[in-house]
Amino acid sequence: METIIFATKNKGKIREITAILADMDVKVLSMEEAGITIDVVEDGTTFAENAMKKAEEIMKVSGKLTLADDSGLEIDYLDKAPGVYSSRFMGEDTPYTVKNAAILEKLKDVPEEKRTARFVSCIAAAFPDGRKRSCQDTIEGIIGYESKGSNGFGYDPIFFSPEKGKYLAELSAEEKNAISHRGKALRKMKEILKEELC
Ligand code: IMP
Repeated sequence: METIIFATKNKGKIREITAILADMDVKVLSMEEAGITIDVVEDGTTFAENAMKKAEEIMKVSGKLTLADDSGLEIDYLDKAPGVYSSRFMGEDTPYTVKNAAILEKLKDVPEEKRTARFVSCIAAAFPDGRKRSCQDTIEGIIGYESKGSNGFGYDPIFFSPEKGKYLAELSAEEKNAISHRGKALRKMKEILKEELC
């Protein structure tokens, strides 16, 4: 059985990847479970750079196949901000109620057709023998005119999915994972791992 480290401290992400890889002969460990405490500085300008940097640095410490993800929200009207700075937008510790209210205010008079946005997720894999693979996916939507729903996290309450006719924060975890940027990217990564581990 192959041990894979998933370079995150987020338990929700570990649950999601573990469920997606359940039918493969792999064991997924969080950084905590692997006893790794280092912090990787996310100073790249793209999701792909940040994800690969995290995966490679943790792989070098663990000596094991390591996956890492980087994700964020691109709002077209704001020139794709906050993008790679999504968690740092207005300060890392600022509550999302405040961040979301600020975005709604910036887009106050913007018509629906100019409110397009997407969540992007990039997943990188760094293998101990030097192989590197990555993949990316998105969920397209619009920034709504209000904050709605109490599920999910981050920018979910202001992100309206036309496909579902609901805000992401109104969806259950299963409904969101089925259509989300991260769910889709993780399923792509599963296919990559099947190729690379055979
Ligand atoms: P990270 O890739 O986990 O560091 O996520 C970066 C940031 O992007 C998060 O802190 C959130 O601000 C935002 N983000 C990423 N994915 C989602 C999502 O599914 N819902 C809401 N916000 C998200």
